[in-house]
Amino acid sequence: MDSNQSYSVAQAQFAQEAQRLRAQVAFTWPQEAARLRGWGAAESAQFLELGSGPGYVTERLLDLLPAAHITALDLDPRMTTYADEMLGDAGGHRTGLTASIMALPLPDASHDFALARYLFQHLSDPVGAAREVWRALAPGSPFVIIDTDDAWSILLDPPFPDDQRQRLAQAMHQALRGGNRFVGRRLPHILSHAGFRVTHFETILLHSELVGSAPFLDALAPLVGQEEGVEDSRAKALRAFVAEHHPLVMLQLFAARGIKS
Ligand SMILES: C[S@@+](CC[C@H](N)C(=O)[O-])C[C@H]1O[C@@H](n2cnc3c(N)ncnc32)[C@H](O)[C@@H]1O
Repeated sequence: MDSNQSYSVAQAQFAQEAQRLRAQVAFTWPQEAARLRGWGAAESAQFLELGSGPGYVTERLLDLLPAAHITALDLDPRMTTYADEMLGDAGGHRTGLTASIMALPLPDASHDFALARYLFQHLSDPVGAAREVWRALAPGSPFVIIDTDDAWSILLDPPFPDDQRQRLAQAMHQALRGGNRFVGRRLPHILSHAGFRVTHFETILLHSELVGSAPFLDALAPLVGQEEGVEDSRAKALRAFVAEHHPLVMLQLFAARGIKS
């Protein structure tokens, strides 16, 4: 079993983190939804969502795929309880499970599409996790992983002072807990080593000229895994910097699709 140590949310910050995840998905979802639709999700009857968090992505998936049944799984019981309270069984279209991606409580070949969003950066054995997803998928099913790579994720112009050093500190903090904030570049490797045929590897790009800078701040400011004081002061400094300098902001996500052949 993998531990959940790379993703640790203190109880006092749980509600704030749930709202951050809500803001994050609202911001990038239109582009992600277009990829998922084009990559076969619209034909899914048994959809598997791994690391489903507080349920805001599941909520979007239920809208996008009204005919599908969604199995939404997360290791943290606080996340599954929050999602259960918000979504229930969605009229028979959702089942919430508390379990690890490393040991799925699901029969072989029971699902026909899988999605893991912002989960793989927290896993110490990403290939092992992808192999377990492979087992739960029927032959021909797609597995989509969406995640970040800190070397190529956010750009501010003019730059936020000390940003590089702070981001490196965060990446090291997560790595010490078994995670990898540079996982984006490895997604094709992870999929192919788990037995998937990699069909797509793309970036999803957002720019402040198109969406404004507020969504970037709402989605990114708190840094999970840092001590409370550090998070708060960095978030405040970032907000003040954006208000004063109106930087151009670009954000990039990585999306890979593999097929179980
Ligand atoms: C950053 S959150 C992303 C939540 C959601 N996918 C989203 O995009 O908003 C990562 C989630 O992965 C879950 N997680 C971490 N390790 C896990 C594991 N081994 N198995 C299943 N879920 C895990 C965490 O509990 C957390 O809810």
